[in-house]
Parts: sequence; C-alpha cells; structure tokens
Amino acid sequence: MAGTRDIEGRISPIDMLKSPNLTKICAPMVRYSKLGFRTLVKKYGCDLTFTPMIISDAFIQSKKARDSDFTTNPDDRPLIVQFASKNATELATAAEIVVPFSDGVDLNCGCPQRWAIADGYGCCLLRSPDLIKDMVTQARNRVPADFTISIKIRIDKDMRKTVDLCQKAQSAGVSWISVHGRTKDQRHQPVDYSTIKTVKDSLDVPVVANGDIKSIYDARNVQNLTGVDGVMAARGLLNNPAMFAGYDYTPIECLKDWVDISLSVGTHFSVFHHHIMEMCEQLMPKYEKRLFNTLSTTSAVLEYLRTNYGV
Ligand SMILES: Cc1cc2nc3c(=O)[nH]c(=O)nc-3n(C[C@H](O)[C@H](O)[C@H](O)COP(=O)(O)O)c2cc1C
Repeated sequence: MAGTRDIEGRISPIDMLKSPNLTKICAPMVRYSKLGFRTLVKKYGCDLTFTPMIISDAFIQSKKARDSDFTTNPDDRPLIVQFASKNATELATAAEIVVPFSDGVDLNCGCPQRWAIADGYGCCLLRSPDLIKDMVTQARNRVPADFTISIKIRIDKDMRKTVDLCQKAQSAGVSWISVHGRTKDQRHQPVDYSTIKTVKDSLDVPVVANGDIKSIYDARNVQNLTGVDGVMAARGLLNNPAMFAGYDYTPIECLKDWVDISLSVGTHFSVFHHHIMEMCEQLMPKYEKRLFNTLSTTSAVLEYLRTNYGV
C-alpha cells in the first residue's frame, strides 16, 4: 500500500517529535477521542491526535467494526490510530489497512481494565517484551518508512524492566514511545516523572510523557523535568480542550466550536452531551450540572447553551 498516501505539505509525526518544539498530543480515549473532538483540539493547539483504542482482530475481520470504530476525514491529520492487539500478523494487517488514512499506528500496552487483561490486551503486553518486539517488527515491515509505529506503555515498579522493554522496542524499529508514568495497578497516585526521564535518557527515539498534564504550564514543567519530545493529555483536554492554546479553562468560543463541529461531523448525542458536561466542569454550578444532566435531546442542549452561555 506504500505510495497511496497523500502526504504532500504535511509534517509527519516523527518530524514533529524530532523538531525543537514541544509536540502537544491528545491521548487515545475510548468513546471520546473521536473525529469531532480531534478536530476541536487541533483548532486549539494540539499538534497530533489519537483515535480511541480499536481492537485489531474485529477491525480486520468486519467492515461493520471498521465503519463504527474508525471515522475520519481528509482534515483529520496528523492522526495516529491506536490498536489493542496481541498478535503480530493482526497488528501488521490492521496497520496496512489504515495507512492511506493516517500517519501511524500505536500499540496499546497500558490498558489496565479487567476485560483487557482477561483477553491478553493492553498492560498484559508489558510482561512480554519479545511479543511487543515481534509486533513492532512485523508492522514496521508492512508500512511505508514515514508511517510511524509507536507504543504507549505504563511503567513497571522496577524501572530497569521499563527501560529494557523500551530498548527492545527501539531495536525492533519502534518510531516513538509514549510513557504514562504510573504502573498498571496505580490509578490516582502521583505520576513518576523521574522514570519517564530515565526512559528518555536511555533511548534515541522520541519519548512522550503522559499523566496529569492539565495545562500548558504543566506541559512545560514536565518537559523541563524529563526532557521529553512531546506531552500527551487525556482528562485535562476533556475538561479544557483549549488548554494547549494557553487557556486556563474552556473559553465560550471553544464550547461554540464544539457545537458547530459535532453537529457538522455527526456525533452521537451521549458523546455530544458528555463533552459539554466535561468542558463546563468549571463553568457550571452544581445545580446547573444536575439540570443539564437531565437534557436528553440535541435541541434541548442547544436551547440551554443559547440561554445560559449565549452559544
Ligand atoms: C475516558 C478515557 C478513555 C481512555 N481510553 C484510552 C485508550 O483508548 N487507550 C489508551 O491507551 N489509554 C486510554 N486512556 C488513558 C489515557 O490515554 C491516559 O493515559 C491517562 O488518562 C493518563 O493521562 P491524563 O492524566 O492526561 O488523563 C483513557 C483515559 C480516559 C480518561
């Protein structure tokens, strides 16, 4: 499939990450990092966005799964498609399918949810560095050179294991690595930026820091602490999609943009509604949140936003 991609005039993720500027990334988020939200955060300073995690075997086997899990458009670039996979051939095949529509694939090696662990996906892979190596090698061999193959990991409590795993992935040809600075068992504990720094210092490929980055100040602080090439945010961007553009909380303009974008690209009502709840976290008093939660149609939400926020 090499050569089918329109990459004219576009900066590839790897060039971005290797440039002196800090690359600002919207993390993969199941249900939420979909086309509409990706379009919104790109308007407000995000350089690179991820799809939600997509399970590679269903994606390969079923057109229905592909249509429901992966919606994009020509402006939705640069884009990384994240897969949950535990099989090298499957990951390579899934990567080949998305080459014409994206700039890279990422292997999820961090999901700690029970269903993922039961099925051998996500953080289970952290116990199998050789499998990760094989998956990276096979995917790398089936895509064009400028198409990135990355992994997103959680750290181990034994820092050497994390460094070994990353070095193995690097020797297999991984393009870059995102590190969420928590172990698979940690949820709200402080992020371990010193392990992220050790990973960065031990590798030649670009490294991205993830965890508790909630503002542009946090982003710069984490860059100073770790020396990483990029920063990735999930919950911070849900609460304030304009954070990388320097806003302390969601500006009304951004709320208006969300309404326009989500209506134009087509967004499921529950996702449309949930994003507004998240974005208005700091704007809405408690009683308003309760009321907003009861709204069940797009027209009721639009009327509410018009009356209360002039959107
Ligand atoms: C709603 C939600 C969905 C997520 N889905 C994914 C996912 O699909 N793939 C993944 O690697 N991580 C996923 N994560 C984890 C985030 O990408 C990120 O690693 C984690 O939230 C820590 O970053 P933060 O402190 O900026 O939120 C998800 C997190 C949230 C809050």
